[in-house]
Amino acid sequence: MYRTTPPVTRLSDYQPPEFLIDDVSLRLELDAEQTAVDAELSLRRNPAATRGNGDLRLDGEHLALEAISLNGRALTPAEYQLEDDHLLVHRVPDRCRLQTRVRINPAENTALEGLYVSGGMLCTQCEAEGFRRITYFLDRPDVMARFRVSLVADPARYPVLLSNGNPAGEETLADGRRCVHWEDPFPKPSYLFAIVAGDLVAVEDRFTTASGRAIPLCIYVEPGNEDKCDHAMRSLIKAMRWDEERYGREYDLDVFNIVAVSHFNMGAMENKGLNVFNAKYILARPETATDADFAGIEGVVAHEYFHNWTGNRITCRDWFQLSLKEGLTVYRDQEFSADMGSRGVKRIEDVRLLRARQFPEDSGPMAHPVRPDSYIEINNFYTATVYEKGAEVVRMQANLLGPERFRKATDLYFERFDGQAVTTDDFVACMEEGGGIDLTQFRRWYSQAGTPQLDCEDDYDAATGTYRLEVRQHTPSTPGQPEKQPLHIPLALGLVDAEGRDMPVQLAGESQPPAPGTRILALRQPVERFEILGCATRPVPSLLRGFSAPVQLCYPYTEEQLSFLMAHDSDGFNRWDAAQTLAQRVLLAMVDDATTAVPASFLDAFREALQDETADPALLAEVLTLPSEGYLGEQMTVVDVDGIHRVRQALAAAIGSGLAAELQAVYARTRSEEGFDLSHAAMGRRALGNLCLAYLVRAGDAQGLEQAQRQFDGQANMTDVIAALRTLLEAPDAETAAAGEQALAGFYERWADEPLVLDKWFALQAQSSRPDTLARVERLLEHPAFSLTNPNRVRALIGAFASGNPVRFHAADGGGYRFLGDRILELDPLNPQIASRLLYPMTRWRRYDAGRQQQMRAQLERILEVEGLSNDVYEVVSKSLE
Ligand code: PHE
Ligand code: ZN
Repeated sequence: MYRTTPPVTRLSDYQPPEFLIDDVSLRLELDAEQTAVDAELSLRRNPAATRGNGDLRLDGEHLALEAISLNGRALTPAEYQLEDDHLLVHRVPDRCRLQTRVRINPAENTALEGLYVSGGMLCTQCEAEGFRRITYFLDRPDVMARFRVSLVADPARYPVLLSNGNPAGEETLADGRRCVHWEDPFPKPSYLFAIVAGDLVAVEDRFTTASGRAIPLCIYVEPGNEDKCDHAMRSLIKAMRWDEERYGREYDLDVFNIVAVSHFNMGAMENKGLNVFNAKYILARPETATDADFAGIEGVVAHEYFHNWTGNRITCRDWFQLSLKEGLTVYRDQEFSADMGSRGVKRIEDVRLLRARQFPEDSGPMAHPVRPDSYIEINNFYTATVYEKGAEVVRMQANLLGPERFRKATDLYFERFDGQAVTTDDFVACMEEGGGIDLTQFRRWYSQAGTPQLDCEDDYDAATGTYRLEVRQHTPSTPGQPEKQPLHIPLALGLVDAEGRDMPVQLAGESQPPAPGTRILALRQPVERFEILGCATRPVPSLLRGFSAPVQLCYPYTEEQLSFLMAHDSDGFNRWDAAQTLAQRVLLAMVDDATTAVPASFLDAFREALQDETADPALLAEVLTLPSEGYLGEQMTVVDVDGIHRVRQALAAAIGSGLAAELQAVYARTRSEEGFDLSHAAMGRRALGNLCLAYLVRAGDAQGLEQAQRQFDGQANMTDVIAALRTLLEAPDAETAAAGEQALAGFYERWADEPLVLDKWFALQAQSSRPDTLARVERLLEHPAFSLTNPNRVRALIGAFASGNPVRFHAADGGGYRFLGDRILELDPLNPQIASRLLYPMTRWRRYDAGRQQQMRAQLERILEVEGLSNDVYEVVSKSLE
């Protein structure tokens, strides 16, 4: 079949814009079916650009042009040329004023890019290239303009009219419509533009900045949700304070507004002064939201707020630099959450996510560097690599510099580049200058894809007390990058003595032993050797403490050593990691031996951990959580879907029956405190208690089953309700599973009017390991509450099944794959971004056995055959098949 392949955009082709836009005036006459947009652009030729043929080329898509004039004179058709995705204005003077009037249809916009309808409101999403669906513009981040916006609307339908910046007056027009003005004094790229119009209520608070300015804070929600904004507001205020204290960054506008919308492709968006959020990351009450939801809200509210400096005041030169704002801002929100809760637990959660999402991406067909060098569709590059690995790369620099020098370096960054659109290289240059170090080799972390592997070997010479460590680094090849160069990798090392104490790490050549504790070794060469002196006994190495670099570590630990580190390592992260490695070993061995027999030593290690009454419950819950099926699959040469599921269930049941008394004791302890709060301690108790309960129910423990039922019936808070419901639904015996079904029906009755809770109801069923789950998911597509045009709902049902239920999605008969193929083809014309993201599990086809490979490929090939595929889906499918 003939197809014209969509064009590739390359970093190496970057050219500065030929024209700049200093000022923009926009007037939107808002209507759900036909909105009129009048734009006036003050344009000027860019002195820094090479001169083209004199034509001005503006981006624009899905726009109906109604009028166009230059410096006040209407243009004749010969003076411009209209194309599908752009407008050429011939021979424009070096300075000019361009006026256009276009019409757009928000109601038809199911892609949710540009101006669209969500429930009864109108809202926008412009990152990355959505502004071109609103008006003709230089829709690229290195064109920064001052925006003045007027919103005209029927005050009965759209009483609230918001845009970026500060309010600048309003009036009532002769026809009764209202016209509200906004002015944003800070030049910004078009992707940060936003408007919202709707019948919304505001939850208000106030923040006084370090310099004493009182800033009104408003969270706008649909009526009825006012009582679910408390946590988001508190998180915002904490984030504003934290950014002042930790980075010296003060808020800069007179107002700060947030809007929660129900239809949103991503988590949230940092539009200047007007953050737009997926309602999921704002709305929460203890009865409707889990602890994980509350934590997500705190992190995302902070993330979007932090973008005001890292993203908005200093933005990206081009979309290849996306990690400039995202990697840095994720690092900032991770540190914020660490400061608000438990640093140790936060680190574990972040690494768990990195390993579950970014590592597989980095070894698959869509692997790309933190700073990609080409793309077909930029929307496909809002990835775990750009976000989470990008954050790790910033974290390594922060750790290399240490807190004081890192602060000096970020101060320099803000001072030097405020108001500019810059590159990741500009950021690293500030780290070098402010930190006084050389990051030449380190820069490869931005340009080289793939997860480096560290192979460690050691030996110990008792006669001289010398411990030798040899570390080899190797980065596997990735698409387009067959050869890799060595990276500068900070390796945090501790040496643990037989009593579990840290030894001093004294390197050969050093005359004095340092204080006992962690040392950071710099790896730069393919092979590095270290000699450590003064080791009276053979140490157990504690490698990569705190996960000091985003690498895959290999060291031939014995099971005794892992149990030892799990119990004694002074580094909390490595205690957790040792437990994970131990569990992984046991599970993979069970798969290999086709057995469900569990080694007694493993249960002993778990028992010992459970009996430690001094342990932080949240940390203990992390330690006692088995690696996920997805993660275990990643550790195998060929993913054994059924084997992994079988042994993981068997191990959970063995824990539940073998340690029933200990689990009951811990469960009882976690339940002893009354009331609900969101303190780290309380969330930790709930996490630990629910984990114990899940093990007990998995083993069919009669008391555990009763407790789960009671916990569900108690309806104390969503964390406990969902946990109980999940365990009941997964219970091994038919009677309990039937009780689970009943509970599920009750859950629906109670929450039918709460969309975010209903999402949980869909996801719970989609993730069930019951053999008939696919049939149920197919039935749920017909449920009146299901909708293909609401991304949260699509993720809750289709996404949860395809990405969160490996054993049923990867059923050997290929039913799951056919199901996903069908859904992607239905979704692509509606919302390409969502369709493309759902594809992810099938891009991993090479990791499975021949039968599954063939079935997944068949679906990918079938999708590729379809005419009129979006660039989003085309790019992911074609690269997966390469
Ligand atoms: N820039 C947003 C963030 O990370 C993410 C986003 C990207 C939202 C594209 C919408 C569209 O905070
Ligand atoms: Zn972001």
